[in-house]
Amino acid sequence: MAIVTSRDMFKKAYDGGYAIGAFNVNNMEIIQGITEAAIEQHAPLILQVSKGARSYAKHVYLMKLIEAAVADAEQTAGFDLPICVHLDHGDSFELCKSCIDGGFSSVMIDKSGESFEENIRITRQVVEYAHDHGVVVEAELGTLAGVEDEVNVKAEDSSYTRPEDVQEFVERTGCDSLAIAIGTSHGAYKFTAAQCTRNENGELIPPPLRFDILEEVSRRLPGFPIVLHGSSSVPQEFVRIINANGGKMPDAVGIPEEQLRKAATMAVCKINIDSDLRLAMTAKIRQHFAEHPDHFDPRQYLKPGREAIKAMVEHKLIHVLGCNGKA
Ligand code: G3H
Ligand code: 13P
Ligand code: ZN
Repeated sequence: MAIVTSRDMFKKAYDGGYAIGAFNVNNMEIIQGITEAAIEQHAPLILQVSKGARSYAKHVYLMKLIEAAVADAEQTAGFDLPICVHLDHGDSFELCKSCIDGGFSSVMIDKSGESFEENIRITRQVVEYAHDHGVVVEAELGTLAGVEDEVNVKAEDSSYTRPEDVQEFVERTGCDSLAIAIGTSHGAYKFTAAQCTRNENGELIPPPLRFDILEEVSRRLPGFPIVLHGSSSVPQEFVRIINANGGKMPDAVGIPEEQLRKAATMAVCKINIDSDLRLAMTAKIRQHFAEHPDHFDPRQYLKPGREAIKAMVEHKLIHVLGCNGKA
């Protein structure tokens, strides 16, 4: 199967009460770990590329690796794995155009930091070009907190999506899906200790997502696919392995998986996960180095990193997204 858009995936996910996993990719091992999990679980998949990933690995390498994953699924598993290739957090018309021209089937234009009118203007411009080329567009209203290479928003500058804005925004832009802010956040440190409570083991428990906003948004946009960014759950088992093997990640905390599962049964059709991939790979590589200080062949430590990604993604597909068996 060729690379596909997310249109059909989202329609089925909306009607079926599950979500598609959108995983960030930067290199071959990450792409292989994710796609092997999706093949085994017969799960439709979105592989997304940030501006930072594109400058790290180059567009052509990532595109060819993703094409290789599609071919591998067909040849080794005899299975047509539907993969959507998506630009994550596109920050300009020119970047979106370059990804569309370069074979992506979906782009995000993220002008959520601009005024409502400016967000509409640029999103509309991207939608016109994308739709002319058979590509779908994700836009964003509301601002998530968090710090990543290409995303840097302080908690005090974040804002929940205003449900009263969504209908006008979608109508005037023609976007195909909408990312909203309901309390998720980018990165491995989603909340400060002061924003959380602690359980009996001393672990941080984050504030609940604003399901009331999600409900109101979907009431105003019936049948329309909603996207959640910043949706890593920051599994504490990985944080513990990292910290036990020379790492330093105090108080890393994510979104509880039960809350993501609940969102997936609602209007949320796409759930973005990047930090959990980083944590899985880093944990296993750190552990490998600690256990095998003599190893220096990258295959020796990248292999367990890739296996950790595969196991983590399989868990998400089955227990969080609910999209296993849907491809
Ligand atoms: O939301 C941001 C993604 O985690 C991508 O991060 O810009 O560091 O590649 P990046
Ligand atoms: P996390 O940092 O929670 O993995 O979010 C990733 C993301 O939203 C990519 O766009
Ligand atoms: Zn994001």
